[in-house]
Amino acid sequence: MKGLSSVFVLVITIFSAYGASIPTIVPTLKLHDGRDIPALALGTWLGNNTKPGASEVEQAVSWAIAAGYRHIDTAFAYRIEDQVGRAVAKKISEGVKREELFITTKLWNSEHAREAVVPALRQSLSNLGLEYVDLYLIHWPVGQFLNQTYDYTDYLDTWHGMVEAKTLGLAKSIGVSNFNQQQIDRILEHGLEKPTVLQVEINLNLQQPDLLAYCARQDIRVMGYTPFGSLFYSKAQPGAPPPRVDDPALVEIAKRHNKTVPQIALRYLVELGVIPIPKSLTKSRIEQNHLVFDFQLTEQEKATLKAFDRNYRTIPQLKWLDHPYYPFEKN
Ligand SMILES: NC(=O)c1ccc[n+]([C@@H]2O[C@H](COP(=O)([O-])OP(=O)(O)OC[C@H]3O[C@@H](n4cnc5c(N)ncnc54)[C@H](OP(=O)(O)O)[C@@H]3O)[C@@H](O)[C@H]2O)c1
Ligand SMILES: *[C@@H]1O[C@H](CO)[C@@H](O)[C@H](O)[C@H]1NC(C)=O
Ligand SMILES: *[C@@H]1O[C@H](CO)[C@@H](O)[C@H](O)[C@H]1NC(C)=O
Ligand SMILES: *[C@@H]1O[C@H](CO)[C@@H](O)[C@H](O)[C@H]1NC(C)=O
Repeated sequence: MKGLSSVFVLVITIFSAYGASIPTIVPTLKLHDGRDIPALALGTWLGNNTKPGASEVEQAVSWAIAAGYRHIDTAFAYRIEDQVGRAVAKKISEGVKREELFITTKLWNSEHAREAVVPALRQSLSNLGLEYVDLYLIHWPVGQFLNQTYDYTDYLDTWHGMVEAKTLGLAKSIGVSNFNQQQIDRILEHGLEKPTVLQVEINLNLQQPDLLAYCARQDIRVMGYTPFGSLFYSKAQPGAPPPRVDDPALVEIAKRHNKTVPQIALRYLVELGVIPIPKSLTKSRIEQNHLVFDFQLTEQEKATLKAFDRNYRTIPQLKWLDHPYYPFEKN
């Protein structure tokens, strides 16, 4: 015991000497393929029309790993895989092990042909400077060539390509994003390997209880994107339903737990069994968003938060509405 505590004091001393605090490592969940997935990820999408700068995402990923994030969510389409890769390489050179990190990336819509999947993943791996990703997702069920014409390739063919990528060891686990329940069922009905993960929009305005129950029955983990929904005035679209960050009911819950309102929104997703993917480029926000595993919401608080569900989608991608594999409700 005595030896242990002096090691502990030494570690604290070293950390303080560098002006860094001790990281709070995010806990993990099991995937049905037996692998562990960290229960919260850093998002890295800069938004629709934002042209990536030289290093803002690299900086954010470095701060996140230093704070204790172990899971980074990225995609070929975000055009910043190179920045994620540079931050990961730097942290590995500083002593973080590759096996401790969980890197997720996604196949873009232009590469849905079965034989296009492995080359697309190799391109992402080259951008990331990695030998493998932990999780590879089909970004959307909707195919579209770079010249904007639709690609009607069956996503079952695309899924065959994903299985090949896994067999080659280029992706340790495979999954889908923005698929609906019928589309996942179709993969299963054809006797193909079951996706480990479904990544979809989940937030206070779009809680998707039926889809979550389906995934729980199938033992498919859900990663929740746009976890803050319309919480921030700067991001909420005109007419988006409440709550905003200053909503009195949320402020009261946050005060009771000595947490911020964004942390309450993330904790609620954790309690729904969802892996939230908060994105931030701001150091102080990155450092608070993952501190949501040291408290619990009461049943009453969860009921208050459940009542904000409006089935309101922040990212409907209406431009793909007339594609046969458009996944969302058409109204
Ligand atoms: N699979 C898909 O199709 C898909 C679609 C959308 C998103 N995603 C993934 O999910 C991630 C998250 O979604 P998102 O980027 O749409 O939205 P989000 O994470 O819900 O919101 C990001 C916004 O919230 C701000 N923010 C973060 N933490 C905050 C805090 N504690 N206090 C105040 N403001 C805070 C950020 O500002 P700053 O950055 O300025 O700090 C940013 O403007 C994406 O980055 C991406 O990785 C996947
Ligand atoms: C992305 O673009 C769509 C229109 O194509 C728009 O409705 C939406 O608000 C944009 N989202 C962001 C986060 O900029
Ligand atoms: C768009 O690209 C696809 C795939 O390369 C090609 O088959 C198709 O003919 C192109 N369509 C147009 C209108 O250029
Ligand atoms: C409340 O949270 C802040 C920020 O995490 C922390 O510094 C402070 O010690 C906490 N206060 C109490 C009473 O727990």
